[in-house]
Amino acid sequence: MTQNVRDKAVRLTNEDFKFICDFVYQSTGIVLNDNKREMVYRRLTRIIREKKLNSFSDYCQLLRQQGEQEKDYFINAITTNLTSFFREQHHFDYLTNEELPKLMATKVMEANGKKRVRIWSSASSTGEEPYSIAITLLEKMHTLMSSWDVKILATDIDSNVLATGKSGIYEYRRIENISEKLKRNYFHRGCGKNEKNVRVDKKLSDLITFKQLNLLHEWPMTGPFDIIFCRNVIIYFDKPTQQGLFARYYDLLAPGGLLMLGHSENLGAFTQHFDNVGRTIFRKPL
Ligand SMILES: C[S@@+](CC[C@H](N)C(=O)[O-])C[C@H]1O[C@@H](n2cnc3c(N)ncnc32)[C@H](O)[C@@H]1O
Repeated sequence: MTQNVRDKAVRLTNEDFKFICDFVYQSTGIVLNDNKREMVYRRLTRIIREKKLNSFSDYCQLLRQQGEQEKDYFINAITTNLTSFFREQHHFDYLTNEELPKLMATKVMEANGKKRVRIWSSASSTGEEPYSIAITLLEKMHTLMSSWDVKILATDIDSNVLATGKSGIYEYRRIENISEKLKRNYFHRGCGKNEKNVRVDKKLSDLITFKQLNLLHEWPMTGPFDIIFCRNVIIYFDKPTQQGLFARYYDLLAPGGLLMLGHSENLGAFTQHFDNVGRTIFRKPL
């Protein structure tokens, strides 16, 4: 570890930083190293000041003693939640041009007279990813939707971002780059003091369930899922955690199901179990 962060009102010792790194790793799987020290400092001093504590040592003591609520607050501060609507557009193009036509052609009616499709956005952050999936589905299948039983599960460890996802309210600038047609069909502009915000249309939120889920813990879902999005989250984990997760995603996918990773992510040693069918798009063999 490098020397202590100096010249700051609150002191972060190497010992406290090590405790924080270990605590984050045990709680979330996120690996922090020395180059994240400034980030940790910035994010946690805010909490330390809010709580009127004097030092990181006091805060570490609080983390050791306090229960789940304190831990939740801490995790929310540590996670990086960067996301956007239609981030990595090529995944949504693949859904539109390849996967949805394939599902439409091959899915058979279930006992309820509908065709079942299950999609999991497994690190959904503030919800832009699951809403982009829902828009893509509705755009492709709109007139057919009544004969489909489609559900999108959106999960994240961070309770703050889930609250934003559930609210479905975003600043208008978040949707500035999407087409006028999509804006018109799926978003409602606020008025008065809310004029800078938009709310997603009910036909999107009706398809999505937001739930808190730590990817490291047990998963209550039984699947099978047709498509799993696991984008821009495994980069924060070490190789053994990544490999363990891939095995669990594999088990939960239907044969022929898709796993989408983020732009800088790959399956590593798990590559042999999937077919690579597009840029960071992997199919479980039939
Ligand atoms: C950078 S965002 C990615 C959002 C979205 N998938 C995308 O690609 O735009 C990473 C998300 O992973 C979540 N995360 C980190 N560790 C997690 C864990 N152990 N279990 C579930 N979610 C986790 C964070 O809270 C954060 O919202």
